[in-house]
Amino acid sequence: MTKPILVVTTRYTSEVEDRIDRAYNARRNSNQFPFSQQELLSAAEGADALFITPADRLDSGFFQKVSPTVKIVATYSVGFEHIDLEAAARRKISVAYTPGVNSEATADVAMLLLLGASRRAYEAQELVRTGAWRPLSPDMLLGWQVGGKVLGIFGMGSVGQAMARRARGFGMKIHYCNASELPAEITGDAVYHEDPSDLLRVSQFLSLHAPETPQTRHFLNSKTISLLPPGAIIVNTARGGLVVDDDLIAALKSGRVAAAGLDVFEGEPKLHPEYISLKNTFLLPHIGSATIETRTAMGMLALDNVEAVLNCESAPTLVPGGSREIVQAAGRKQ
Ligand code: DGY
Repeated sequence: MTKPILVVTTRYTSEVEDRIDRAYNARRNSNQFPFSQQELLSAAEGADALFITPADRLDSGFFQKVSPTVKIVATYSVGFEHIDLEAAARRKISVAYTPGVNSEATADVAMLLLLGASRRAYEAQELVRTGAWRPLSPDMLLGWQVGGKVLGIFGMGSVGQAMARRARGFGMKIHYCNASELPAEITGDAVYHEDPSDLLRVSQFLSLHAPETPQTRHFLNSKTISLLPPGAIIVNTARGGLVVDDDLIAALKSGRVAAAGLDVFEGEPKLHPEYISLKNTFLLPHIGSATIETRTAMGMLALDNVEAVLNCESAPTLVPGGSREIVQAAGRKQ
């Protein structure tokens, strides 16, 4: 029996790669850089499914031209802002993502950023690595204590909840804003704010965990920053597009925001150069989900989705809007 054709735009962990090789005729990107749109369209000619990452941008132009043989796009991410869902639906292509499986790893990195920013880890590293460390002086690299402070969580999905669990262990008080209030069994004593402005007003630390949507894009800007308590600390493991970089940089320069820990950037892997020159930033290259266990689980879930759609079964994690009708319609195309 011929294997279905799967376009694979990057390299995954060995377990995931083995499963791809066993089940599919893989068309791989042999380059270390993402496919250009034209290359991806060419690779998709006659293919059954595409296995992509947020580095691949699938806009409406892409979906207008993509091969009618494609039944599913599976993205290796919980975010799906890089895919035009309506355009995919018009072509009756299912879109699946990998929610849930990266929550713990991403929350670990959010906590790392929170601690790194508040304890001035970048400057401390620099001191050690450049040999500039001198005998202890009591005011050397004084940071900001996290215990007893309010952590505002913007977006209380599974990553936000995992972050709340960690921060509680450090003695922080949790406040959150979410599309709707969650049951107390999930949020415990966390304080809910319906209005994001109310969350900002109390957030001595603010951690962003919302998806990037037209509503959340550029959520953190000069106006919303001005609502934060002076000297607040910002953490972002969600998407760079939630932040207006120039505004956050101005606030970091003036001290209005004391420090920021950032794992994601608008336009990454490029980032605003001023983040790099500031000492009160603690920066990582989008490694929230980068553990072997998590990246393997993400890959397996993405492949479960591909397998289900190609077998005309219901897929475990279609994106909201990737409705059963779309899956069935996709199945009918075979
Ligand atoms: C996700 O899953 O969306 C992570 O940010 C990795 O892209």
